[in-house]
Amino acid sequence: MARSLSLAEIFQLGYYWECKVLLTAVKLDVFGALAGRSRTPAEVARRLHADPRATELLLNALVSIGLLRKNEAGYFNASEAEEYLVKDSPTYAGHLLLLQDAEWENWGKLETTIQTGKSPVKEHVFRSDPRLAENVLLVLHRVALQHAPTLARQLDLDGARTLLDLGGGAGTHAMGFCKTYPALRAIIFDLPETLQTTARLVKEAGLEERITFLSGDFNRDPLGGPYDAVLMSDILHYQDPEANAALVRKVHQVLNPAGRLIIKDRFLDEDRTTPPWTAVFAVHLMVNTEKGRCYTLREASNWLTEAGFREIREVERSSIVEGVK
Ligand SMILES: C[S@@+](CC[C@H](N)C(=O)[O-])C[C@H]1O[C@@H](n2cnc3c(N)ncnc32)[C@H](O)[C@@H]1O
Repeated sequence: MARSLSLAEIFQLGYYWECKVLLTAVKLDVFGALAGRSRTPAEVARRLHADPRATELLLNALVSIGLLRKNEAGYFNASEAEEYLVKDSPTYAGHLLLLQDAEWENWGKLETTIQTGKSPVKEHVFRSDPRLAENVLLVLHRVALQHAPTLARQLDLDGARTLLDLGGGAGTHAMGFCKTYPALRAIIFDLPETLQTTARLVKEAGLEERITFLSGDFNRDPLGGPYDAVLMSDILHYQDPEANAALVRKVHQVLNPAGRLIIKDRFLDEDRTTPPWTAVFAVHLMVNTEKGRCYTLREASNWLTEAGFREIREVERSSIVEGVK
């Protein structure tokens, strides 16, 4: 159903103030300065090497948003901020917000991007800032680990002995799948910098006997194999259609007969206006990647068909499609 907006809601959409207050507080590590105790604005400002008056205004805004509390002794973290936004916390998730902040300047160039049709960037921040990329992958890994077993069961990989997790990142899916299917062995293919972190996580999970690694650029380097199944999760939206079609063809060649290619991504519906999050994500990709975009399920299915896959089916709406060799 079409969303309808009041004038107040239209104005609200235009207010990015709270957003930038949050991102700046994370960048400056305000929550770290308040970890476990209250402090006055002057104390916080000293810790941040910042201006006391400006710091106080920021702290007040953070109280109004609900991330800080204020009492006679000063300001302190709300419990959620203490849990997710203090760096020492085992559940720290600030890296994801630091990624948003790193992409802020690109969003500022949206107007020019719309006028020229050209992305303001030559490469995604993941490539230009590998350390941030690593930290973001770790946060996503922690969150996604909870869903990996459900996804594994949904895909029914009982008959598969080998899985290639292409652009496997932190290895969340490879690990989740190996835990669910005891006979499965996985190979994670990714860029060499990423795989160092992945190898550590795989070892921590005690899966180093069953998960191995291949490093390289999946568009240029050999993919090994043959495999019974290949997973491409959240990699195609960083590339243009030609590169995706070529990659799907390449994967077809490294699959065993009856092997499956599973593509997991954020697919747009045919009218490209829904799902709502994905329609806006398409704009995000336009300003933050050189060639990335969101695709429809039909586009992904066409790459599969043209590469020679059959029995193409949508496993989960707007999210997973697979084909059989
Ligand atoms: C958004 S992450 C997805 C990670 C994982 N598949 C998941 O769903 O959680 C994209 C991954 O693709 C990797 N990647 C991007 N371009 C690549 C390339 N040309 N060759 C190999 N890996 C690549 C990145 O290093 C990153 O780990």
